[in-house]
Amino acid sequence: MASENSKNILVSKEELDKQKEYSSLVRMVIQTRFGNRTPMAFVHTFGCQGNVADSERLKGMLEEMGFGFVDSPEDADISLFNTCAIREHAEDRLFGNVGALKKIKEKNSDFKIVLCGCMMQQEHVAQRIKNSYPFVDIVFGTHVAHKLPELLYRSLSTGKRVFDVGDSDGVIAENLPLHRDSNFKAWLPIMYGCNNFCSYCIVPYVRGRERSRSSEVIIAEAKELVKNGYKEITLLGQNVNSYGNDREGEMNFSSLLRQINAIDGDFIIRFMTSHPKDCTHELLDTMAECEKVAKHLHLPVQCGNDRVLKEMNRGYTSEKYLSLLTYARSVMPDLSVTSDIIVGFPGETYDEFCDTLKLMEKAEYTSLYTFIFSPREGTRAAKMDDPVTREEKGKWFSELCGLQESIAAKRTAGMLGKEYRVLCESKAKKDGIISGRTQGNIIIEFPADDSVIGTFQTVKVTEALIWMLKGELSNS
Ligand code: SAH
Ligand code: SF4
Ligand code: F3S
Repeated sequence: MASENSKNILVSKEELDKQKEYSSLVRMVIQTRFGNRTPMAFVHTFGCQGNVADSERLKGMLEEMGFGFVDSPEDADISLFNTCAIREHAEDRLFGNVGALKKIKEKNSDFKIVLCGCMMQQEHVAQRIKNSYPFVDIVFGTHVAHKLPELLYRSLSTGKRVFDVGDSDGVIAENLPLHRDSNFKAWLPIMYGCNNFCSYCIVPYVRGRERSRSSEVIIAEAKELVKNGYKEITLLGQNVNSYGNDREGEMNFSSLLRQINAIDGDFIIRFMTSHPKDCTHELLDTMAECEKVAKHLHLPVQCGNDRVLKEMNRGYTSEKYLSLLTYARSVMPDLSVTSDIIVGFPGETYDEFCDTLKLMEKAEYTSLYTFIFSPREGTRAAKMDDPVTREEKGKWFSELCGLQESIAAKRTAGMLGKEYRVLCESKAKKDGIISGRTQGNIIIEFPADDSVIGTFQTVKVTEALIWMLKGELSNS
């Protein structure tokens, strides 16, 4: 049963019906404007898979309004950028991209430019667009994405700029139209927002508080995906391990995994991201016992020094983290573990950074997402003393990447000659070669026909590179 609280954050049926009406109005306007030609939208997504999943809903709404999709803004009638605010350079990149759209607008005044997503929740960004980018038509934040039809209608009918970037603890909008990018791999958001306030991170400020979708809705969506032939379902949330905590009487993440695992069909389940502070033995046992759950754990450690971990507000020590991995590998000997690491958190010394290297040697990650600390306005870490130069941090970063390379190379070398069940995903750059991924999330390329795309195949590893494998289809 949903608690009162979770009912209140659900976008009401009346509101969603209103958006459907706006959607029809937009359809009418564009029919008058474009006649028989289908208007085209270019949608570009920055940031994490959560944003990719949001974009699939934005595309769903655009499709319902009558738009088709193109791969370049030059061919489009509307360009929409779904933005990310996680690091500073994201801002420079976005404004570079937006600047380039100005030329299109000069040639075609009907061309609409829409900016949405996490970065738009930052006041200084919305302000900068207001003041310096007058050719941007619509700007909206993460909490009103379901209102795209209304915002677009306002822009089309008045020709005026539309801004909707208010702050909020967040809502859940169910039953939005959905345009999925793949017909065999699906993103399935199970919760939105974050309550953790890691001191460096902007996400809780731009995404609001943790809110879990109802397990009933999630399981129904998973069943529908399996029925439609999807082979991989990735459950998404900033911290999936705290799934359900905000909904009275809701099941926890382990139970949700078991329920999805019980759906009949040949598919695999992935999830991200797991926060180590909420990663329990129950979850690791569940992973081990559920045959459809990929034996891959993305468990971001961020750094290996306890003082820095405390300053980051992560809620665990390096020892606690490593003991989780030891347990995880005791129940899943083939487990592939990946992680995120931030180099050069304010005040981190070289000695403290070396603790991260030591932890990496023990953790034996398959791969790492590494970032140099980037100050985000409004976060606690952005105000901390940061004496180490960018150049110095760059050297640490290279040292870390070098170490990870040797760890990864050792891991992939150990896979040589073995067979793995692989989901075939796409054509590789070279003709006649298919690219797929093992359960452990390692890319493997092998000669095969395009017809294998979207199917599981057994592939034998014939060559181990550092970050990827090469192989051949096994006939057995
Ligand atoms: N919820 C996930 C992380 C989401 S953000 C978790 O807690 O693990 C993805 C990654 O971006 C983070 O794990 C962190 O490594 C990195 N990151 C976030 N804020 C950053 C910042 N200010 N500077 C550099 N890297 C950052
Ligand atoms: Fe950011 Fe921490 Fe939340 Fe992850 S858990 S999104 S790093 S605040
Ligand atoms: Fe970026 Fe927002 Fe995701 S800040 S990482 S797109 S939640």
